[in-house]
Amino acid sequence: PWRRRTDPYAVWVSEVMLQQTRVSAVVPYFERFLELFPDVAALAAARRDRVLKAWEGMGYYARARNLHAAARLVVRRHGGRLPRTVEGLRELPGVGPYTAGAVASIAFGLDEPVLDANVVRVLCRVFCLAGDPSRAAVRRRLWELARRLIPRGRAGAFNQALMDLGATVCLPRRPRCEGCP
Ligand code: ADE
Repeated sequence: PWRRRTDPYAVWVSEVMLQQTRVSAVVPYFERFLELFPDVAALAAARRDRVLKAWEGMGYYARARNLHAAARLVVRRHGGRLPRTVEGLRELPGVGPYTAGAVASIAFGLDEPVLDANVVRVLCRVFCLAGDPSRAAVRRRLWELARRLIPRGRAGAFNQALMDLGATVCLPRRPRCEGCP
């Protein structure tokens, strides 16, 4: 459902939910959360216990607390609109390199890469990288590679396609190489 929406707030909420929760589990939470808190202002104005209640069952509650605190910051400091740069997004509680790249590319159309576990696996396999992706130097190279691959102006679609490829074809244990595009 988040792919049918273009408002940056919805993209942001979905990416925070998707950080540690599977797509199929996120869908009902996402829809309910957006009904309860349809925009940044509504989320910022909500009481914390209502936000946590809407999150109940998804776990990793720091995500909900950070999202709520970030919404308040966005209202207070940015007039209710999400910052439109990776650097600005990174200043929000709970927004790391992955979420900043996802929101920047998907919601704002910026040529910014994302690197999650799926993308790491796809890139390591396609480019035959043998290094340990938990090492900082290897991760830096992966970020650079992901950035170089972006087709100009289409980072949002490209990033999501890489994640989908990792989630559906380039599987961790039994990759479906015969179905690989
Ligand atoms: N995982 C997290 N965010 C995603 C997205 N936008 N598309 C596909 N997989 C994802």
